[in-house]
Amino acid sequence: MSAKALADSVLFQVQDTGRGIPSDKVETIFGRFQQVDASDSRQKGGTGLGLAICRSIVQEHGGRIWAQSVLGKGSIFYFTCQTVEALHRFISIEVGKTTQSVQKKQIQKHQMLPLNRPPLDPYPLSPYVAWAGKRNRDTLLEMFKQRLPKNEGHVLEFASGSGMHINYFAPHFQHLSFQPSDINSEVFENIRQLTQETETKNVQPPIQLDLKEPQTWSVLNGKEFDAIFCINLFQVAPIAIADGMMECTANLLKNSGLLFIYGPFKVDGRYITPSNEEFDRTLLSYKVPEWGLKDIADITFAAQKHGLDLKERIDMPSNNFTLIYSFAPEVG
Ligand SMILES: C[S@@+](CC[C@H](N)C(=O)[O-])C[C@H]1O[C@@H](n2cnc3c(N)ncnc32)[C@H](O)[C@@H]1O
Repeated sequence: MSAKALADSVLFQVQDTGRGIPSDKVETIFGRFQQVDASDSRQKGGTGLGLAICRSIVQEHGGRIWAQSVLGKGSIFYFTCQTVEALHRFISIEVGKTTQSVQKKQIQKHQMLPLNRPPLDPYPLSPYVAWAGKRNRDTLLEMFKQRLPKNEGHVLEFASGSGMHINYFAPHFQHLSFQPSDINSEVFENIRQLTQETETKNVQPPIQLDLKEPQTWSVLNGKEFDAIFCINLFQVAPIAIADGMMECTANLLKNSGLLFIYGPFKVDGRYITPSNEEFDRTLLSYKVPEWGLKDIADITFAAQKHGLDLKERIDMPSNNFTLIYSFAPEVG
């Protein structure tokens, strides 16, 4: 038996010097109740479930299993196991640095991975792991410039996480007052540090707010916002959260205000890119119930219940969308 480190996984190899497997059987042996020799006269025992169980365990861990064999000489069984770092890298590229403590908690809660993991992002201030991904940054900044041309106003971000994006977003609009919020106040330390280090003046103290719990919204009573952002929430949150988010938005957004929701989504039940499908498959493979891409239609349905309409869907360079919602004009 041997093991070899690959870029994002470890490849294990188990070799025997047995009878070998005919080439037309090397794939079917991973099916349930499959034996190379299924006749009553065979001498070896077993139910034919072993490799099927192995395959399902390996797949649950984001890996692959297969075999190579030479008749009369023996077989080599291979399987890969995704490294924890691969999951980290995968998520940190897609959603920014912000979620590490949240995802760690979700993963721990569902006991999906070992708890002692290396830090998600060793360079938290690096532009290359910026919020929303490097490839979308210019498109997003351009979009903000166009939609918020006055270069001023009050902006709130729901589920801001540790707010890597303020590095890029807030300083860009010199007169914007930017208020991060999140359910989890632990993630705010990064915002405080960043705000201090970059001497950013326009970031308000982050507020703890749970989009599912209306009683936590009262901290914002009396405030009005020109724009509200929600970035990369839905791939790690249940769709049920959309209702609270829209109700909260409807209470806080000016009549002329805009709600921006950014992230990867499904469109009418379909993936629009193979990469989103792959991303979703990986998220789902970790079996954390909150994880997985949501459908734009379900978010829009929640928005409409609270008087908000989808005004625009902007497709981003790296398989993400920005959805822009605003109040539907009153009829009559
Ligand atoms: C994937 S992160 C996105 C963070 C940040 N916007 C970004 O793009 O990097 C999702 C965030 O949603 C927050 N969150 C999850 N459930 C929430 C809830 N019910 N109310 C408010 N925030 C929530 C988590 O704490 C986490 O910081």
